[in-house]
Amino acid sequence: MRLGIKGFITAATLTTVLASNLFAADTAQDTYKAKCQMCHGANGEPTGVGKSMGAKAFSDPDVVKMSDTELASITSNGKNKMPAYKDKLSADQINDLAKYVRGLK
Ligand code: HEC
Repeated sequence: MRLGIKGFITAATLTTVLASNLFAADTAQDTYKAKCQMCHGANGEPTGVGKSMGAKAFSDPDVVKMSDTELASITSNGKNKMPAYKDKLSADQINDLAKYVRGLK
């Protein structure tokens, strides 16, 4: 009985940890699809619209050498034609997006 409960708690804890990690990844991807993909493309290659506004591929060396903080700050405050998202997304969402974008290359 004791072991059963312990096992149950371990399984429940693991499920919670796994689920929260999965949700974190899902949320950034969903947000990206909904708000960023139309300019930055599904895999970080800018779309025609994005390119015409001056967006670079996230694999471009100029972007790769930016820090996570810089990527988050551009997302937050915008830059030239890049819209600002600080009023639309939470700081956590923006930080997750910076990491997500970094993975697109
Ligand atoms: C309306 C088109 C548009 C949308 C939507 C958009 N961006 Fe951008 N983004 C741009 C443009 C244009 C630039 C280039 C700005 C510059 O350097 O002049 C840019 C630049 C960036 C950069 C800096 C690296 C680079 O490619 O120059 C990051 C990071 C970024 N965007 C993230 C995001 C994220 C995350 C979202 C969604 C929350 C998003 N963008 C939505 C147009 C867009």
